[in-house]
Amino acid sequence: MQKILILDFGSQFTQLIARRVREMNVYCEIVPYNKLPELTADIKGVILSGSPFSVRWENALRMDLDKVSGKTPLLGICYGAQLLADHYGGEVSQSDKREYGKVMLQQHAPNDPFFNGISKRSQVWMSHSDTIVRLPVGFEVLGNSDTIPYAAFRSVSGRFEQPVYGIQFHPEVYHSLEGFEILKNFVLNICGCSGDWTAAHFVDETIESLKKQIGKEKVIMALSGGVDSTVAATLLHRAIGDRLFCFFVDNGLLRKNEFEDVLESYRGMGLNIEGVDAKERFYKALEGVSDPEQKRKIIGRLFIEIFEEESEAHPDFQWLGQGTIYPDVIESVSVHGPSVTIKSHHNVGGLPEKLKLKIVEPLRSLFKDEVRRVGKELEVSPNILNRHPFPGPGLGIRILGDITPEKVRILQEADAIYINKLKQFELYDEVWQAGTVLLPIFSVGVMGDERTYEQVVALRAVNSTDGMTAEWSHLPHEFLAEVSSEIINNVKGVNRVVFDISTKPPATIEWE
Ligand code: XMP
Repeated sequence: MQKILILDFGSQFTQLIARRVREMNVYCEIVPYNKLPELTADIKGVILSGSPFSVRWENALRMDLDKVSGKTPLLGICYGAQLLADHYGGEVSQSDKREYGKVMLQQHAPNDPFFNGISKRSQVWMSHSDTIVRLPVGFEVLGNSDTIPYAAFRSVSGRFEQPVYGIQFHPEVYHSLEGFEILKNFVLNICGCSGDWTAAHFVDETIESLKKQIGKEKVIMALSGGVDSTVAATLLHRAIGDRLFCFFVDNGLLRKNEFEDVLESYRGMGLNIEGVDAKERFYKALEGVSDPEQKRKIIGRLFIEIFEEESEAHPDFQWLGQGTIYPDVIESVSVHGPSVTIKSHHNVGGLPEKLKLKIVEPLRSLFKDEVRRVGKELEVSPNILNRHPFPGPGLGIRILGDITPEKVRILQEADAIYINKLKQFELYDEVWQAGTVLLPIFSVGVMGDERTYEQVVALRAVNSTDGMTAEWSHLPHEFLAEVSSEIINNVKGVNRVVFDISTKPPATIEWE
């Protein structure tokens, strides 16, 4: 399969480059700058990412560029371009001021395939404090900006067998108005990728390779009702049929009726699935526990225990299926050391090796929106594909403080009203994630002639692309008014509803 390799030097935009390449229906992989694989014929081109480092620093991230230059088309972006200039004998120096923001690129090589169809003056986005002040011998300039002389350059023809390009702007961000076209020129025209890596193509290829990989063996898999595990299971089911066995655990912390609804839709899809009612076990283990991390650990541990029991009850399985997706596996260059664990997300890792199962992860190479496209291709119900993300510990981290079945009931009722109303107002798809939080405080209210002293529910709704940052959603007041009165009038135990208007960072999406 044709692919583009992206060597990561730690830029915050590396994943975005990969996204853009995938949008051209070309498969690509991100690898750390110091883990260059052998350049096999399927690698059609290489892109060097940007970096927070400077090539002038002693600890600059370096690699042997001679292993790539000339072997396959090469494009250096920002730091990548400076690294090329530096390596081949040009000069990079610190400019007087950091060049940051929108800049006009003047390209003067309309006949070069790199700028094919690109305006003579084109808005691009720059973010660097170093700049190339002298090009190496054997390279020529293709474009400049008002402040920098070598905004784009290439190796002169004949210098290498395959062309080497460098640009000091970021074509992958939207502020570079023709950036996508420029990247396309590189990937499709210069590297010669055919751009036929579509969802349908992925489905056919994956089913074939799963058939080979699994052979006559059997796969066990826990489903969560979420997009990733459902799409992964559907692919496996297409490949090996009922030799895929799935189970879905009711941990008592799911949304209202979710266990029954999800189980039913899985059965409707023909999956060989068993529901495991473990509500009481979870409630018992969580009794009296209010520390959020403690709750997460207990929920995670119990889930693993149940998983072990299930796999012991089905000992003839050799494989464990997982819905891991690409952002979970990218081995990014960590510039600031290993990233700090802010919350212990239990549901990805942690499955004990003692199960002695081989792991199969059909979605390992896909981004989230690609998983949705594959799901659509597989005719997975839009109900599942367009679901908001829901944390593994579920309502357990939305009930602040200790958890009781009664609090779960209150929150499930309030949450169901909120989510149904979002759908009714056609706001559900506008919001990235929404949910209710049960606060551990009581407030005074009045109902009829009586004073009440009951709990508070907070509504949370955010817009985000990946959950790393988020803005609170500006939901209409009429909508909020209806949700509030419906919750207060119908959910016994709640007399006050508030709306969370905090952005992430510094707040997080969940309250615990
Ligand atoms: P935060 O609260 O960290 O959430 O801003 C970011 C995203 O992660 C989800 N989240 C979790 N998901 N296990 C999960 O599977 C967890 O323990 C967990 N905590 C937060 C959260 O719902 C949001 O989508």
